[in-house]
Amino acid sequence: MVLSENQTLDWTDRLYLTALPQDQQRLQFWPQNPTNFREILDEYSSKIQLVNEVVLKALARSLNLEEDCFLNQYGTTAKMQARFNYYPPCPWPEKVLGVKPHADGSAITVLLQDKEVEGLQLLKDDQWVGVPIVPDALTINVGDQIEIMSNGIFKSPVHRVFVNSKNERMTLAMFCMPQTEKDIGPVDGLITNERPRLYKNVTFTLDFFFKNYQQGRRPIDACRI
Ligand code: OGA
Ligand code: NI
Repeated sequence: MVLSENQTLDWTDRLYLTALPQDQQRLQFWPQNPTNFREILDEYSSKIQLVNEVVLKALARSLNLEEDCFLNQYGTTAKMQARFNYYPPCPWPEKVLGVKPHADGSAITVLLQDKEVEGLQLLKDDQWVGVPIVPDALTINVGDQIEIMSNGIFKSPVHRVFVNSKNERMTLAMFCMPQTEKDIGPVDGLITNERPRLYKNVTFTLDFFFKNYQQGRRPIDACRI
């Protein structure tokens, strides 16, 4: 998303599609080739939707909460955005990033990593740590919306992607989140005297996310009380 002439662009080509709900798909932007692209992405999205439900229920149970407490904030139609990331080889890999440091604006993100080429790093205790490739495994991270719903217990990690001069890299990120324009907030059971409410009720829109991202700010910082 280009919002200003001054922003630093990422070394990546992206195809960003709304996968769910189906009535928000803008099929005129979906590739015709391969011919079964639509069928496969639809099937993949509905399976990832099941993964989303299992993970959100498990996160709730791990805090001794009622298992639907996060899913209840999804509203009537969950939203899922598919982002196909292509990182071409880069002649100056030390000068640019594939994706600048950011945390995802999703509830959770399910990432299908490149099978051979590493690139993803996350910030842990002020150090960049490489995320390994595990064959046939999905990489799942919490996004800002679960950090807010869990009143800060689950952290939405800051991550970035580096590029290299030899190999191209391809990944597919599925951003799972509540219905568009649905406002979300910390669940009741997680606001206590010892742990007061940390975040306002907010609505995460794409616009809100990218405005902050391109200015190097974390959208979640704008949600803190
Ligand atoms: C993203 C992202 C990581 C990757 O698309 O938000 O962090 O490895 N992608 O492509
Ligand atoms: Ni990300």
